[in-house]
Amino acid sequence: MVVQGLTVAYFSPTGTSRKVAESIANGVHCANVSTLDLTHAPASAMVASDNLTIVAMPVYGGHLPPLAVERMRDLRADGAPAVAVVVYGNRAYEHALEELAELLAGNGFKVIAAATFIGEHSYSTAQLPIAQGRPDAKDLSFAEQFGEKVAAKLSRLTALAPASQVDIKKIRKPRQHPFAMMRFTIGAMRMIMGKVRMPLTPSVDETLCLHCGKCASLCPTCAIRAGEEQVTDKTRCIKCCACVKGCPVGARTFPTPFAKLLAANFKHRKSPKQLL
Ligand SMILES: Cc1cc2nc3c(=O)[nH]c(=O)nc-3n(C[C@H](O)[C@H](O)[C@H](O)COP(=O)(O)O)c2cc1C
Ligand code: SF4
Ligand code: SF4
Repeated sequence: MVVQGLTVAYFSPTGTSRKVAESIANGVHCANVSTLDLTHAPASAMVASDNLTIVAMPVYGGHLPPLAVERMRDLRADGAPAVAVVVYGNRAYEHALEELAELLAGNGFKVIAAATFIGEHSYSTAQLPIAQGRPDAKDLSFAEQFGEKVAAKLSRLTALAPASQVDIKKIRKPRQHPFAMMRFTIGAMRMIMGKVRMPLTPSVDETLCLHCGKCASLCPTCAIRAGEEQVTDKTRCIKCCACVKGCPVGARTFPTPFAKLLAANFKHRKSPKQLL
């Protein structure tokens, strides 16, 4: 099959899914690339059958972010090949990859390859690092090589031997330290039962805020209004931390007690995995 165009779609509040998707796209080496950034707007397109689509999304609580799913609703195809990619913060991705594969299949795509990558956790800070700096050079090189393999797979396809859907369950799972998840789950249950207060939105240090409006422009849900950046609409906030990581003076923080648990239990580096 000769790929005539490549669509790179991602929902990526803190930029790690975007970086992974772009590196995979580099490996495909297609001259005709279009980008669909679902972080701030929904996609609406009917993808041609000779087009390849790469879709990358972060993992939230072991699932796809509901807003990302919603923004994919009108991205449709009639048998065009797609690559499903989820990016998680070194804890676990659980149901997310299967959900993405089902979403793509339901929208008319044929999922011919899939991968899982690790990105710096949205809750990671200098004091409590969780997969800090990822995807790093090693991850992005893996992503580019994965893109090359996807292109090679597509080049072998013919009308008589068309692509078949991959069985997502066959992807290799990352190595998980046997007690890490147990310690994390027990710690999380203790916090919930002990009624530890969970922040509903990031906090703002008004003495630091420059009212530059950057957080308002980064927010995928318009939970912050330019000019009133000290206020966050808790009914809109999805706790993605785009505003926290993007604030130039560190005026926004998301002091969730989960960060300590995650930093303590998921230090061991997990590796990206692929399925072709
Ligand atoms: C609300 C929320 C829930 C998350 N849940 C998980 C999770 O279940 N497992 C995990 O490993 N990482 C989890 N993460 C971390 C993100 O998956 C990770 O940081 C990802 O790289 C963010 O993608 P982005 O940079 O494209 O926004 C979560 C992050 C947020 C904001
Ligand atoms: S990005 Fe930071 S400094 Fe700029 S308005 Fe938002 S909170 Fe204030
Ligand atoms: S206000 Fe909430 S939804 Fe908006 S960028 Fe910040 S954490 Fe994300």
